[in-house]
Amino acid sequence: MKRRPIVAGNWKMHKTNLEARKLTQAIVKALGKVRGVDVVIAPAFTALETVGKGLEKSSVSLAAQNCHWDPQGAYTGEVSLSMIKALGAEYVIVGHSERRKYFADTDEIVAKKAEAAFRNSLTPIVCIGETLEERDADQTSAVVERQLQIGLGLIPAESAASLIIAYEPVWAIGTGRNATPAQAQEVHAFIRKYLEKKWSKETAENIRIQYGGSVKVENARQLFSQRDVDGFLIGGASLDAVGFSTIVKDVMQLARQNKPKESLCTSSC
Ligand code: PGA
Repeated sequence: MKRRPIVAGNWKMHKTNLEARKLTQAIVKALGKVRGVDVVIAPAFTALETVGKGLEKSSVSLAAQNCHWDPQGAYTGEVSLSMIKALGAEYVIVGHSERRKYFADTDEIVAKKAEAAFRNSLTPIVCIGETLEERDADQTSAVVERQLQIGLGLIPAESAASLIIAYEPVWAIGTGRNATPAQAQEVHAFIRKYLEKKWSKETAENIRIQYGGSVKVENARQLFSQRDVDGFLIGGASLDAVGFSTIVKDVMQLARQNKPKESLCTSSC
């Protein structure tokens, strides 16, 4: 089964709408023609419309970084999925560790957001990952399994194959310390096995699992060469048009080689 790679840039709380317009132009220019890889940009809500317009003639898709699960209501400061969709977004990031840590997003909330995304015809990028304390205490599998069990709990089986999961070890986010390719592969394989148990082998083989956490030009090729790494969710490095597009092009090139993934990086990385 060959999964189409997906590389997403998470701009977090960076860039005004005018700055976002410039960065979008620079990314579209640096990327040129993209084939065989899905590319996604997630700006702040305030720049969604501007970035969406800037991407209109490109093959790059738009994502929001968060959402509320209800269609509308008295939720001051929140943004619904229909509002996001009306601006052209096709994806929404849910359960990012920064949302879990600073804004109290629980696994139950993640589940509601992921289900609501599908209900509104958007694709959720569900983020999971353990903290350093949890890894050191040998809790990685247990934490990831709990996040999957609850976080994916409301997704209908018929939507599951198009789901995107981002494995982002919290200790690797914004720290410059990425998981090694082997560490990433180990958890990605564990996630895929879980998905197989939950749904089916076919569904599990279709679901794309991104790695995130200090992904940069220097480590992207090796990480992508792992069997179960289907792309990236990139924070810091996605704010640099040249760096981000270099990663996309590297993924494009490796994916085109059509070789077993394990053999990709033996000579070329
Ligand atoms: P980083 O962030 O690439 O800056 O580590 C990744 C993320 O938070 O999605």
